[in-house]
Amino acid sequence: MVKKCLFPVAGYGTRFLPATKSMPKEMLPVVNKPLVQYGVEEAMGAGMTNCAFVTGRGKRAIADHFDVSYELEHQIAGSSKEPLLDSIRAVIDQGTFTMVRQREMLGLGHAILTGEALIGPEPFGVVLSDDLCINPDGPGVLSQMLDLFEQFRCSVVAVQEVPMDEIHKYGVISGECIQEGLYRVESMVEKPTAGNAPSNLAIIGRYILTPDIFDIIRTTKPGANGEVQITDALQIQAQKGGVIAYKFEGQRFDCGSVPGFVEATNFVFDNFYVKDS
Ligand code: UTP
Repeated sequence: MVKKCLFPVAGYGTRFLPATKSMPKEMLPVVNKPLVQYGVEEAMGAGMTNCAFVTGRGKRAIADHFDVSYELEHQIAGSSKEPLLDSIRAVIDQGTFTMVRQREMLGLGHAILTGEALIGPEPFGVVLSDDLCINPDGPGVLSQMLDLFEQFRCSVVAVQEVPMDEIHKYGVISGECIQEGLYRVESMVEKPTAGNAPSNLAIIGRYILTPDIFDIIRTTKPGANGEVQITDALQIQAQKGGVIAYKFEGQRFDCGSVPGFVEATNFVFDNFYVKDS
């Protein structure tokens, strides 16, 4: 039903300088796999095999990662190292990968609107790959959200309870609880102060959006930080009852920050890395 997933990857990743001076943040490896590949695998696990990247200058390594590297393939064919390419080969075989450039970093809402050319008039997923989501005991977060999309036929955002002293970093929702962990969103605000936050439920980097969002973003004025915020556009959908917020199952690591990235690295190394490979 939902076949396309948008990956806004145009940001500068300034929190990781100097590592991100000439290398995309999304290519930073959590153990031995780049962040963006985790996001793509999660989308593909939800059946979203058409991956659309909103890129920017200096992001070519992402396009190369999702293409064949003939020299490398030739070099390691038949060697003990070859299995290390299994996961990326599987991703490349299953998916299609398209790119469009966001010429100026005018915000996440603007990045999503830039992706319209690749998505068209259909519902789509959005993954911010600097949020690494892992659900070791069940389906990925996007798969969980897809089930809700099929039930409610409206936009779905993933939310997480965060401490109030961190709430100013997020888009925050308030709404009516319609079942355990599920809210019909009534209002949302981007980067509120702790005093103005409508709840402690923060939106993290997973969305399923209905395509009317594009027209709404077109008329959305720059908000917090002078950027076109997806939260402000979603607020318009929410006023018509068109947004569900979902407290997902699994763990989320904020890999856009150094502490979150280190936490994710330790978690993946301890739980998933096959140590003699
Ligand atoms: P962030 O603000 O977390 O990413 O945006 P950033 O700007 O790369 O990070 P710092 O603060 O400088 O370290 C959230 C996501 O939205 C994308 C980013 O690539 C990131 O995945 N984004 C944001 C865009 O693609 N375009 C934009 O104009 C803004």
